[in-house]
This record gives sequence, C-alpha cells and structure tokens, in this order.
Amino acid sequence: MEITEMTIAHYDAVLKLMRRTPGVAVRSADSRVTTARYLERNPGFSFVALESGDVVACAMGGHDGRRGYLQHVIVLPEYRKRGIASELIERCLSRLESIGIFKTHIDVFVDNDLANEYWQRRGWMKRDDINRYSLNRSSDP
Ligand SMILES: CC(C)(COP(=O)(O)OP(=O)(O)OC[C@H]1O[C@@H](n2cnc3c(N)ncnc32)[C@H](O)[C@@H]1OP(=O)(O)O)[C@@H](O)C(=O)NCCC(=O)NCCS
Repeated sequence: MEITEMTIAHYDAVLKLMRRTPGVAVRSADSRVTTARYLERNPGFSFVALESGDVVACAMGGHDGRRGYLQHVIVLPEYRKRGIASELIERCLSRLESIGIFKTHIDVFVDNDLANEYWQRRGWMKRDDINRYSLNRSSDP
C-alpha cells in the first residue's frame, strides 16, 4: 500500500471510487476541470492510497486561508478497517497544521450513518450551533 499526493492524473480513478460509494454524491463541482482547479489551489493537501498502482482510497483536503476542509474521504469496501482513512486524514491534517491551520470542517450527509459515526468516534464535533446556507446560481440543481 502506497500513499501519495493526489494529482489530476488520479481523477478518473477517484471519480470511479466516488460513483461506486453509497453516501457520496457526485456533483458537477466534481468535474475534471473543477477538481484540477481545486488541486492547483490546494497543492499537497489531497492524498490517495494505491494498491498495485490502483487507487483504493482518497481524501481531499484544502483551505480558504483560515480554516481547513476535507472532502471525499473514501476507502473501497474491501480495504476498510485497516487504518487507511485514518492515515490519509492524518496526512491532510498534518499538512494543514504545517501552514498554521488547526481547525478543519467536513460536510457529511445526515443519513450517512457510517460516516457520521466514524467522525464522531474520532472526536470531530457535530455542529448544532451553525446552520449552513448554500445559494446555487447555476441551472444545475
Ligand atoms: C468512513 C470510511 C472512510 C472509513 O475508512 P476506513 O479506512 O475503514 O477507516 P479506518 O480503518 O481508519 O477506521 C475504521 C475502523 O477500523 C478500525 N481499524 C483500523 N485498523 C484496523 C486493523 N488493522 N484491524 C482492525 N480494525 C482496524 C479502526 O479502529 C476503526 O474502528 P472504529 O471506526 O470502530 O473506531 C469508509 O468507511 C468509507 O469509505 N465509507 C464510505 C464513504 C463515506 O461515506 N465517506 C465519508 C464521506 S464524508
């Protein structure tokens, strides 16, 4: 198992991973162009795990200058419960800490029980004091 920085060369494999994972939504914001832009804006904050050259897990990270953000933390079912997600997340958070960002957010669908339990078991705080508002000005729902 090799963990390496995610580049746009991993895009097709990561998209495939997202598409076959219940609880993970694929949006137009996950296009190749926007993913390339995300990686360019956040170089060295996203990672993939490779087994014999194939992507079996990913974790994308970034920041807005103030706070860190994680997204698409996904491990193929047959590779789960080996600590791969923990290792990928640690890489993302360490990288964020190296630039002075110590607080990171992740969005999880309310009905994604597996993921909600995962984050809470690791001390991530479910926010009841914040409502997230989103405005969509595109024609894509
Ligand atoms: C959530 C998810 C990323 C976790 O991935 P993972 O690689 O299985 O996570 P880890 O291995 O780090 O931890 C999972 C469990 O395995 C345990 N574990 C780790 N290494 C282990 C080992 N060698 N032997 C046995 N158990 C082990 C961990 O202690 C942990 O247990 P806990 O959750 O009861 O505390 C994965 O289930 C997934 O891809 N889910 C679907 C995608 C998704 O919903 N992502 C979240 C979107 S935000």
